[in-house]
Amino acid sequence: MPKINVDGKDLIANDGESILNVCERNGIYIPRYCYHPSLSVAGNCRMCLVEIEKMPKLQTACSTIASEGMVVKTDSEKVRKARKDVLEFLLINHPLDCSICDQVGECFLQDYYFTYGLRKSRFKLENKNQKQKRREVGKYLVLDNERCILCTRCVRFSNEVTKTDELFVNSRGDRAFIDISPEKGVTNKYSLNIADICPVGAFTSKDFRFKQRVYMLQTTKSICTLCATGCKINIWHNNNTIYRITPEPNIYTNTWMCDDGRMNYKIVNSSERLTHSMINGTEYNKRQTVKQVFNKLSKAMDDKLRIAVVLSNYLSIEDNISLIYLAKNVLKTPYIFSIESNQQKIEDGILINSDKSPNSNGIKLLVKKYGIKDISEYAEYDIVIGFYEDIKNLRISLVKTILFSYKKSSYPCLIALKTYFETDGSFINWQGYLRKTAKVVNSPENTFDLHHFLMEVSHLFAVYPDFNFKGIIKDLKYKEEGQ
Ligand code: SF4
Ligand code: SF4
Ligand code: FES
Repeated sequence: MPKINVDGKDLIANDGESILNVCERNGIYIPRYCYHPSLSVAGNCRMCLVEIEKMPKLQTACSTIASEGMVVKTDSEKVRKARKDVLEFLLINHPLDCSICDQVGECFLQDYYFTYGLRKSRFKLENKNQKQKRREVGKYLVLDNERCILCTRCVRFSNEVTKTDELFVNSRGDRAFIDISPEKGVTNKYSLNIADICPVGAFTSKDFRFKQRVYMLQTTKSICTLCATGCKINIWHNNNTIYRITPEPNIYTNTWMCDDGRMNYKIVNSSERLTHSMINGTEYNKRQTVKQVFNKLSKAMDDKLRIAVVLSNYLSIEDNISLIYLAKNVLKTPYIFSIESNQQKIEDGILINSDKSPNSNGIKLLVKKYGIKDISEYAEYDIVIGFYEDIKNLRISLVKTILFSYKKSSYPCLIALKTYFETDGSFINWQGYLRKTAKVVNSPENTFDLHHFLMEVSHLFAVYPDFNFKGIIKDLKYKEEGQ
């Protein structure tokens, strides 16, 4: 492993590691445009130039491999001048769009200009090249070619990650621009990652444009629940409203995320949203709903009806534990079932899982712990309690159900739930990692946290739960990150 010296510090490089990466690992930041840790090295922007002793010219830190005895300067006068020159060059044809550009707050061109540039342009405004602005690209992107600095991150993403090859650099010199293959268009399922990795405001997201400045937003870490992959995400929100979702890159599960996962937040304010529990066509507030369900269940118990409880891969571990508790300690029914797990595999070779539920593995562990039977043993019951996504696939009479849901549907007894963005919950992804959703916005007043709802029903039966979720979850055999 080569020893090098950077800005007076002795550092150990890994074999074959670039100077930029050695510096990054050791807390020395080198500016970059074309370099991206998850794409191949292009070495075309020259923003990462550093001085290396015994080399007459400055070298690009992203593409120069550290070798024994190298003495590197990342902040000498020569380096600072080179950065200033690169910025001046990139800005020759860049439009004066900052005040109307959606990238403000996360634009590397602006940020580096303030850190390294600060030079009055020697070029005339009227001589700037003009290129196509506001080109609609696929379902989710807008491209402004005047703002592009030709770093080719977007092109490499489409070549290397989605392998769809839709983007390419057309023409040459100062007329070069990013173009889209007319036969292909940008239809891949990961297109919004391009807006994330574009270091300037050339590719932006149609969904997010002009809604908020990024520096007005807070971010909260959570997970995507749209499939069993369970990508780690950042939820960007302000004033009780979610504005966008971006991936939280990590070595365990995901660097990127799919477009469907990003759009999932729309359920929060969707017209399909169930905001009140609906029992036989009537809307009920929370207090009334708990009472109605209590009445229904206590009558069923008095009449010695057979009540089945079905655990759900769509619900958190906490909610499923509460369902088991209700079944065993309140309803005292032996009929507790789980839904057969969907087959789990990454269906597109990138991230999207064939299992569209977020917690199949959590259910598997609960099934083992509590000895729960599979729904294949399901027979005829008088009342079935479960989550609507599961039950809709079973051939049972609708009127016999008490279902939890956050979407409207035609079932007669629907309990309105909070969405994954309005409550904390634990899930185990397809790799076996325990992951948590985070509450980022308040829910409509008459929606429930399912486990709170079930506890309230238990209280009306004068049964008071004495377990804690943390203890039960800790005993489940999930994988820890780093194992
Ligand atoms: S559009 Fe953005 S990511 Fe693509 S080359 Fe231009 S600046 Fe780079
Ligand atoms: S791959 Fe699955 S978990 Fe990841 S963002 Fe897409 S839907 Fe969500
Ligand atoms: S980051 Fe090194 S040349 Fe672009």
